[in-house]
Amino acid sequence: MHLPLPCWNSGTELSSPSAGSRSGKMTRCQVVAILLLSFLPSTAAGTSLPTLVPRSTLQLGRVRFSARPVLELATRCDEVCVRREAALLPQDFQEYLFYETLYANGTRTLTTVELSPGEGGTERRWPKRRTRRKRQIYGTDGRFSISGDHFLMDYPFSTTVKISTGCTGVLVSEQHVLTAAHCVHDGQDYVKGARKIKVGFLTPANGTGRPVMRWARVRRTQVPKGWIRSLNSISMDYDYALLELRRPHRRPHMELAVAPAAEEMAGKRIHFSGFDSDRPGELVYRFCGVEDETAHLIYQHCDARPGASGSGVYGKVWDPVRHKWERKVIGIFSGHQWLEVGGEQHDYNVAVRLTAPKFAQICYWIKGDYKSCQNE
Ligand SMILES: *[C@@H]1O[C@H](CO)[C@@H](O)[C@H](O)[C@H]1NC(C)=O
Ligand SMILES: *[C@@H]1O[C@H](CO)[C@@H](O)[C@H](O)[C@H]1NC(C)=O
Repeated sequence: MHLPLPCWNSGTELSSPSAGSRSGKMTRCQVVAILLLSFLPSTAAGTSLPTLVPRSTLQLGRVRFSARPVLELATRCDEVCVRREAALLPQDFQEYLFYETLYANGTRTLTTVELSPGEGGTERRWPKRRTRRKRQIYGTDGRFSISGDHFLMDYPFSTTVKISTGCTGVLVSEQHVLTAAHCVHDGQDYVKGARKIKVGFLTPANGTGRPVMRWARVRRTQVPKGWIRSLNSISMDYDYALLELRRPHRRPHMELAVAPAAEEMAGKRIHFSGFDSDRPGELVYRFCGVEDETAHLIYQHCDARPGASGSGVYGKVWDPVRHKWERKVIGIFSGHQWLEVGGEQHDYNVAVRLTAPKFAQICYWIKGDYKSCQNE
């Protein structure tokens, strides 16, 4: 697919902050970014860590698995949509945080939850960003195929896994994989391949030969209710799902974190590795600058093709305890969005942000104990 991509074409320049400021002229994308920002309250700055308490679990009917997987998710967002996204209040989210659990035997449940705000509802302050002593070299933007046994098995690339429905996922615990919801569910029903969904680990072959994919079975799949709505109102805000493997894997995983404001991440950049469908059998890595963000979404022009959906989007976040920059999964790569602002159309690649409520939910899915998710 080759869409006319006004921002994309100049993506190299845009994603490099040094180049952007050198030119002195604002690109169309930067104009859009400013327009978009003007709609937004300062949602990203402070975040309180809420608690997600499960209330009831209902047995649901058997799943039909009738949906066709759509690997390339594309949405539209007009000005009404932009305003709505900006205006969402935390209480709107509670019902969206209800979730479905699909088991390998085809049964599923709906769990209702209650979201209580973080300690006294106080804003959690993000530590001030430290100035890096060593300035990172801004390489040419683009995608890099990761080859060589050494790199494939090396952190962070080794945390990238393939999802049998055609997407990518990221290892976020010893037994859990985070991916995009649209890889397993189209908003109305589960996709055909979700019944026997598997997770693929790219493993170096002995000696010569190409790396091989080793498949592991999934015990259960969890999808937030915010995604299960209708096809007409499809929104990327809750495009995430968690898969639990039948057995723990033996690779390192990447920790999750509530997405900080882009300014809080090293170089204001995001990174992700995935299995882009135009490079079969290869693990593809890329990084780029964050161009804009709403409470739920990260707008960027990281080059990506179908198949990279569900990739774990990470940034380097300052860890005040360990006193260093750590890679943390702060979002999931979703797809493409046409944004209509000021009568003009603009396109972005979009990642779902892990907001504090989403983080609380996924943490609960992983740990099965909401109390241990309070002190992250
Ligand atoms: C399906 O699996 C779940 C989880 O293991 C279990 O609770 C449920 O009883 C099973 N249902 C059937 C019909 O086997
Ligand atoms: C790879 O090497 C292991 C031992 O190092 C051996 O047991 C296995 O048979 C080899 N596999 C192939 C496909 O050569």
